[in-house]
Amino acid sequence: MSTHLGAEFDETIAHGPDPYEFYARARVEQPVFYSHRFDLWFITRHDHVVRVLLDPTGFSSEDRSIKPKRWPPRVAAVMASKRHAKHLGNTDPPAHTRLRQVLNQAFLPTVVAGYAPLIREVADDLLDRLAGPEVDLLNEYCYPLPLIVILRVIGVPLDDLDRCMRWCRDKSTLDFAAETLNEDEQLRAAESSVAFVDYCDNLVRQRQHAPLDDLISRLLKTRVKGHPPLSGPEVADLLPLLIFAGHETTANLLGNLLWQLLSTGHWDRLVTDPDLLEAAVEEGLRYDTPALGFVRRALQDTTIAHVRIPAGSRVFLLFGSANRDPARWSEPERFGFPRDRASGHLALGQGIHFCVGAPLARLETRIGLDRLLRRQPTLRLTDPVTEPERRVHLVLRTLRRLPAHWDQKLSRLNGGGAA
Ligand code: HEM
Repeated sequence: MSTHLGAEFDETIAHGPDPYEFYARARVEQPVFYSHRFDLWFITRHDHVVRVLLDPTGFSSEDRSIKPKRWPPRVAAVMASKRHAKHLGNTDPPAHTRLRQVLNQAFLPTVVAGYAPLIREVADDLLDRLAGPEVDLLNEYCYPLPLIVILRVIGVPLDDLDRCMRWCRDKSTLDFAAETLNEDEQLRAAESSVAFVDYCDNLVRQRQHAPLDDLISRLLKTRVKGHPPLSGPEVADLLPLLIFAGHETTANLLGNLLWQLLSTGHWDRLVTDPDLLEAAVEEGLRYDTPALGFVRRALQDTTIAHVRIPAGSRVFLLFGSANRDPARWSEPERFGFPRDRASGHLALGQGIHFCVGAPLARLETRIGLDRLLRRQPTLRLTDPVTEPERRVHLVLRTLRRLPAHWDQKLSRLNGGGAA
């Protein structure tokens, strides 16, 4: 088993501010490496990652969280009391195919285009509330924007926004970064995961009795030819994933992209030429990939890059590395747009698990940036030189905050709410 890079790949790199230098070395020296620390095989090159993504019969998605081998007994007891949710992300065909056909209807590009006025309204409302003279763009704009949108689309009362955000944080830390928590924190996060499931069950039961014009009610009544409709618990199992995936990733795309745009001068280019927005969003997805990777389990012995991966092993597909592979892009370490072959990035996955929310994520990011550009064209970071601190997470590439100077008068002048 070749492990030399695997031995180096610890939390400080995996979760560190700049894993890209390490990825570049790995693509050359050891494109597939095993890490004892995480008990995962990391796949770093674009063509290899695509190969796995396009082979759902060889690589299963059923077991994709990165949990400690053994939970402390108190945590294990709470985890055992929780229903094991089956959703799009952790199922293989044929179960996945059925769920996906239902969800595809909910996120058709034509349906998503209809959410543009809602996204714009939410963005403007948030910008109206930014007071300045200094604001935290990440926590006051990038996070609440997609969270409020996805909650309103799904039909979750906004009074529960804070709870939902906390549940999502706990769930994602428990699923992908549990080793960063002590036992008491793990216990609290496990209890929080159970509360999230109960909450979603309850919400679905309410819609079964009294349907509304929202996603939950639509999922309950969607019929796909040849398949039974989704049951209440099946719909409830989809909700934590939709709420989590529907805001964390988009918030990070917005945050990472704003950091790049504002610290490199590209912001001013967009102010002069907003037609470049679409290209900027694609480059943001490629360059600073919001979800750095996901897990698969090899169902049979496989060889990738001359490395034998035994059946039953788990592989981590490093989208963040694949998106900087020089075999795929010229000057991959440079942030710039428009780019040739921009659409080949893997930030939204590929194959049967390709992100179902991709049209929504792209629309939200475009509108979110557009509103900011129009209302605050002279926007500047408080410190454009020092990259802000990031949260510790193997999957999410996420800043902790993004402080900027805010000119409230200018924002109002450019189309904000009443003074
Ligand atoms: C910039 C924002 C986003 C990024 C970077 C992103 C990234 C991804 C990636 C990489 C996958 C594939 C995972 C895999 O192959 O195992 C995925 C799947 C998924 N995403 Fe997204 N996502 C984003 C936004 C959204 C939004 C807004 C929603 C919900 C409305 C969403 C819901 C989902 C779901 C449900 C899946 C599972 C699809 C399946 O397994 O068939 N995502 N996403």
